[in-house]
Amino acid sequence: MKTIGVLTSGGDSPGMNACIRAITRTAIKNNLKVVGIMRGYQGLIDGEFVELTARFVGNILQLGGTVLKTSRSAEFKTKAGFEKALENIKKAKIDVLFVIGGDGSFNGALSLAKAGVKVIAIPASIDNDLKYTDYTIGFDTAVNTIVSLVNNIRDTSMAHERITVVEVMGAYCGDIALNAGVASGADYILVPEVKFEPKKLYEKLMINNKNGKLCNIIVANENVMSSEKLAKEITKNTGLEVRFANVGHIQRGGSPTANDRIRATMFGIHAVSEMMQGKYNFAVGVRAEKVMSVPIERAFDKYREFDKSLYDMIMEISY
Ligand code: F6P
Repeated sequence: MKTIGVLTSGGDSPGMNACIRAITRTAIKNNLKVVGIMRGYQGLIDGEFVELTARFVGNILQLGGTVLKTSRSAEFKTKAGFEKALENIKKAKIDVLFVIGGDGSFNGALSLAKAGVKVIAIPASIDNDLKYTDYTIGFDTAVNTIVSLVNNIRDTSMAHERITVVEVMGAYCGDIALNAGVASGADYILVPEVKFEPKKLYEKLMINNKNGKLCNIIVANENVMSSEKLAKEITKNTGLEVRFANVGHIQRGGSPTANDRIRATMFGIHAVSEMMQGKYNFAVGVRAEKVMSVPIERAFDKYREFDKSLYDMIMEISY
């Protein structure tokens, strides 16, 4: 009987559990044994393995986080740690390893593939920062969580007639800020892909103020400027009253949206089905609504670009 291993790694994202479930159930249907590796690559090093059964993955579809736990393993990046991981993969007789995670996890998967391990990578990150695919699992849930929080912020911001800066994650990708900004009616959006020109922001806030628009929502990606610093800068340069909110890890948790559950399930089924046809060392993804896969070394390609035209249009109509 063939054995597959499954791990989740890096920042967790809503929908990881749905993907673990889909992989496990599809694999069992195909008479495979499924080994779950706890705590990502660290679990490979520590030999923390657990057999995944149809029941083990029952009732997890709707849960955020990951039942397999996750980590960002520094030890895996050392020669000794990496070799230990290779040894344990052999010992557990894992024929193919499924890695569910973001870009850091994909790098780990690529290193394993280069060392002779058969790997299959599935994109899961709230950041949507893997550009070979249109979508990474968890993005939709994170955006919806932020939108619902901004709805609350907007109530109090409207009541007090003041500005609020909302800081969101996304690492060095502006997709979360852009999409949450569009869906929550943000007046200004700060993303790493577009050079931030503070003067333009101050000018816009002053014009809005003059026109009687006193409540302004600014959505800022975490790596452009912290919300606290930006709030202070705005007050210093405009004299206007500003509050700030860092959404933080609240945006990474929560029950996955239907969209994330469906994508995660489709990715999981597709990954196992491709493997059953003898394929490995690929990354699953979606392009133009079609689930597809690319060789693992092409998973760092930039097939998709930041949607600058949407960004520009939104900045135009938010006044
Ligand atoms: O990659 C996912 C992510 O949530 C990023 O958006 C963020 O920059 C980072 O992880 C935070 O990582 P940690 O949970 O380790 O602080």
